[in-house]
Amino acid sequence: MTRWLVTGAGGMLGTDMVAALTSSGAAVTGLDRAGLDVTDAAAVTDAIARGRPDVVVNCSAWTAVDDAEASEDQALAVNAGGAANLAAACAGLGTRLVQVSTDYVFAGDADRPYSEDDIPAPRTAYGRTKLAGERAVLDRLPGLGFIVRTAWLYGAHGPSFAGTMIKLENQRPTVDVVDDQHGQPTWTVDVARQIIALVNSTAAPGIYHATSSGQTTWFGLAREIFGLLGADPARVRPIPSSALSRPAPRPAYSVLGHSAWAGSGLAPIGDWRTALRRALPELVAAQRPGNRQGAPVG
Ligand SMILES: NC(=O)c1ccc[n+]([C@@H]2O[C@H](COP(=O)([O-])OP(=O)(O)OC[C@H]3O[C@@H](n4cnc5c(N)ncnc54)[C@H](OP(=O)(O)O)[C@@H]3O)[C@@H](O)[C@H]2O)c1
Repeated sequence: MTRWLVTGAGGMLGTDMVAALTSSGAAVTGLDRAGLDVTDAAAVTDAIARGRPDVVVNCSAWTAVDDAEASEDQALAVNAGGAANLAAACAGLGTRLVQVSTDYVFAGDADRPYSEDDIPAPRTAYGRTKLAGERAVLDRLPGLGFIVRTAWLYGAHGPSFAGTMIKLENQRPTVDVVDDQHGQPTWTVDVARQIIALVNSTAAPGIYHATSSGQTTWFGLAREIFGLLGADPARVRPIPSSALSRPAPRPAYSVLGHSAWAGSGLAPIGDWRTALRRALPELVAAQRPGNRQGAPVG
């Protein structure tokens, strides 16, 4: 049986990664930050030498996009240094490594979906550190390293835009949401299942894009959530990004293409609306513990 190790197992994706592996019957060890700090090279080497996993999925990351602008060295230590430590430890043992990455490696100004081999050009400190993490894995683990880029994640086990909208629908008459950033809302459970399918397939190591299909804006996502909750979508009002001032610029267009999946014989994650509908009861239960039945609640 394949042995899996998940780092960053206390995070939003890491929690669902461990759960998906457990329910698939796999042998999995999940280590949260207290269990394994990926910036500690000796601890990483020791954990992998002792656990002898066949596959490591690195879900750990510095994910505070705005804070990274003023603390790029600290973000780099986790996002690149941590990935490099894991890759180095895996290299000697023939262990496969899945490094989770992001649409922020791209400039975010395209007018067609980014393909897996488009040239990255990050515009934020977070994006630069995540790109350095990708390169650390590809350089140290040729033939064993998978880069799985995702974007616009939501899940039951961490803060997300979707969770915030579910809360605000209950608290405010209207919400103003930016309507000029385009992306693919993606459920952490779908990413976890996609990673498992990828590793269990004969797909070649390399770069894969694990986002839902289709695209929308944050405004479009918020309206969809309100509709699914049984609330009036007109309570969500569009605003431009220029109305919000943030330390890190947000990509106007960061839709990811899915052509690498075809070469692997695997289907990409499906339509974002379908995934959101499936996820909603779990998201509502996480945000409104008194309403465990889930949607509709409006
Ligand atoms: N969320 C998104 O929309 C999104 C979009 C694109 C890509 N991604 C990528 O998806 C992956 C998972 O993100 P997520 O949304 O699940 O983020 P998350 O909830 O912030 O999880 C990241 C986890 O990493 C842990 N961590 C931080 N520093 C660590 C260290 N030095 N050693 C070990 N663990 C450490 C964090 O622990 P603490 O909480 O204790 O700091 C946290 O539990 C990341 O690679 C991220 O870049 C996320």
